[in-house]
Amino acid sequence: MSTKLAKDSLLKLNNGKTIPVSGFGLYKTPPDVTTKLTYEALKVGYRHIDSAKIYGNEAEGAQGIANFLKDHPNVKRSDIFFTTKIWNNDHGYELTKKAIETSLERTQDIEYIDLFLIHSPKSDKERRLGTWKALQEAVSTGRVKSIGVSNYGTKHLDELYSWDGLTIKPVINQVELHPWLPRKDLQKYAEKYEFLLEAYAPITRGKKFDDPELVSIAKKHGYTPAQVLLRWSYAQGFIPLVKTVTIERIKPNFTVLDDIELDEEDYKLLDKPDSYEALAWDPTVYNDGDA
Ligand SMILES: NC(=O)c1ccc[n+]([C@@H]2O[C@H](COP(=O)([O-])OP(=O)(O)OC[C@H]3O[C@@H](n4cnc5c(N)ncnc54)[C@H](OP(=O)(O)O)[C@@H]3O)[C@@H](O)[C@H]2O)c1
Repeated sequence: MSTKLAKDSLLKLNNGKTIPVSGFGLYKTPPDVTTKLTYEALKVGYRHIDSAKIYGNEAEGAQGIANFLKDHPNVKRSDIFFTTKIWNNDHGYELTKKAIETSLERTQDIEYIDLFLIHSPKSDKERRLGTWKALQEAVSTGRVKSIGVSNYGTKHLDELYSWDGLTIKPVINQVELHPWLPRKDLQKYAEKYEFLLEAYAPITRGKKFDDPELVSIAKKHGYTPAQVLLRWSYAQGFIPLVKTVTIERIKPNFTVLDDIELDEEDYKLLDKPDSYEALAWDPTVYNDGDA
């Protein structure tokens, strides 16, 4: 992936639409501050907001976007990209249809949802495919623009790609990705099937900020560990989704692509192709019947 990306670059999805490369995540962002934080993120320049039904802040995120659009008539709804997700207990065709409607009602201020993901594969084959069928139908209504998966391992992707009801391919797989979890298998799969990878927990939720190699790279350049990890993520071709409820962190997180350069030596130190350290949850390894 090119080093010529800028903080506000758009990447092309396999359905011809585009997605802003810098994402602002809302997991664990309390609903009562989500509208304000979303607004602040947009003010700084973010154009990509990642929510989910299970985060309990879809409506507040959409409200932040709507408020921002109202105050900034030069920015169009189509400049902003809003993602939400189907939670595990809404899997299956009928339940997903209802869940999509509910999410659309909650976010009606922004008229449509840019990307709807199946949050994880945690149900069973019949329900996962039923969910996908409902998502495909939602695209045909125009109120959902693109659909994708999250936390899908290669076996879940194989299941979807070999299904004879597949009419719309996923544009994205959103998974945990950072130097300690580079997921080379999913990177290969993404290349082959031309979907993009979104990186969640891209700064490891701070859990690796004391890693000696990361600290040495950060010190060498005068960067923070968070900046180094985000720069690494972009360099892999990922779309990092970083979360913060701290207003002062929004801008430096967003401007990494314009502010930060790493050298070859840094990338070598961060290159751990065989590492597999999941720091959040890891449904990519889920087998039907697991808890
Ligand atoms: N699909 C999925 O299953 C899934 C799972 C997890 C996450 N996600 C998505 O990915 C997004 C990001 O993942 P995440 O929230 O798990 O992890 P993350 O973005 O790697 O880490 C967030 C943590 O880092 C802190 N932080 C943010 N910027 C910082 C900075 N510049 N310096 C120091 N600390 C900083 C935040 O603290 P403060 O907030 O206190 O500033 C928060 O504690 C989520 O919000 C969500 O949208 C998806």
